[in-house]
Amino acid sequence: MSTTRNSAGFSPECEVSIPEIDEQHATFFDMIERIGTVADDLYRPLDDDAVDEALDIMAEIREHAQAHFGTEEGYMQEVDYPGLDDHRTAHERFLDDIARLEGELLNGSAVPPIKVRTFLTESCRGHILSMDKPFGQFYNKNK
Ligand SMILES: [Fe+2]
Repeated sequence: MSTTRNSAGFSPECEVSIPEIDEQHATFFDMIERIGTVADDLYRPLDDDAVDEALDIMAEIREHAQAHFGTEEGYMQEVDYPGLDDHRTAHERFLDDIARLEGELLNGSAVPPIKVRTFLTESCRGHILSMDKPFGQFYNKNK
């Protein structure tokens, strides 16, 4: 049975079976969902106030991501995970993507929030399923 709290976007298939990491992933999806609350129509570019709100949320997502990646990489070091370097590269790429989205929002290049939310949700899900889950299996076998 799942012990992870319910969270939008966090489905049972996303569980990596390391409770601290699952909790942090659920928080990610909650933060990403908040992008959808900055405007009534997610398909239209944001006005200036909504851009400010979206940027605040993006800054929170970036800070959470940095802390979370540190946690995850710590678990990897604990068990000498052979995939650590590749995994670290994927984490850096995700942070680059966030910085790029922040830049697009900041210079008003008319990004609709649905695009930001969908991109982040899919990046997180894809990363969790393809990289974090295999690590979770390795960790639980080798801890
Ligand atoms: Fe990861």
